[in-house]
Amino acid sequence: MAESRPTDVAALGVPDVVARKGSGTPLVMVTAYDAPGARIVDDAGVDLILVGDTLAMVVLGYDDTLHVTIDDMAHHTAAVARAKPRALVVGDLPWMSYHVGLADTVQNAARLVRAGAGAVKLEGGRKRLDAVRAILDAEIPVMGHVGLTPQSVHALGGFRVQGKTIDAARAIVDDAVALADAGCFAIVLECVPDAVARLVTDTVPVPTIGIGAGRHCDGQVLVFHDLLGLQDWLRPKFVRRYGEFYTEGVDAVSRFAADVRAGRFPSSEETYHVADDVTAALADGARAAELDEGADTVDV
Ligand code: KIV
Repeated sequence: MAESRPTDVAALGVPDVVARKGSGTPLVMVTAYDAPGARIVDDAGVDLILVGDTLAMVVLGYDDTLHVTIDDMAHHTAAVARAKPRALVVGDLPWMSYHVGLADTVQNAARLVRAGAGAVKLEGGRKRLDAVRAILDAEIPVMGHVGLTPQSVHALGGFRVQGKTIDAARAIVDDAVALADAGCFAIVLECVPDAVARLVTDTVPVPTIGIGAGRHCDGQVLVFHDLLGLQDWLRPKFVRRYGEFYTEGVDAVSRFAADVRAGRFPSSEETYHVADDVTAALADGARAAELDEGADTVDV
């Protein structure tokens, strides 16, 4: 892997993302949480990298996303930004970073921008319009997120598909329209039936990016660890795995352990050597030291 990445390819900006609405080429967004992950997804040519609060679950080992703080998100956004990706980096505002007051909300969004994000994402519809407007007023682009909003896991009674009744579906459409009207440049649709995603996509003038929302969206997003099979214990219906990195990782580390235990690692080629005369002098020195030591220890 090259140490410094090419700088001659123009980075993607918010207007480029908005222009993709209706272009016929769906947007591709993948999450990343550190520099190597960002390099992988950027070299694969994704359009957007989401530093998602799924960090809590797939990297930090929590059962839900409620445990990450703005400090955690800024730390990981900075790691992703250090990879200098061409893709637009979107920093996810975690739970309680935009629920308390507008000044606090704007400061938290600014922390993600200072860490290297080109936009922020927050969950919720009409309830969050004041937060969206305040962040936009500070010139920070905002991505919306409706449908299953994992930060509301307790209020929703679990991670469940949303919008299955007419009223619930209408509420999702109304939320998305309100977010777009307020100025969100794109909207994530999570775990909603495809008919609902289609209606939202046909109604709002900004790109929709689906996860568990079927094909009628302007783009798709998957979590890095799901896509690569880096975690074996959670397999939502909407995930398609393009790798089995967890299994491959266990296999690789098992082979390393077996080689160490059998004395096959390291080999001579994997070892630093000195010239023979230095080796000989070192051996002589050790022998002399042994003799000295023998002379010092006189039996009484
Ligand atoms: O945090 C995240 O990774 C997300 C995606 C699931 C859209 O919000």
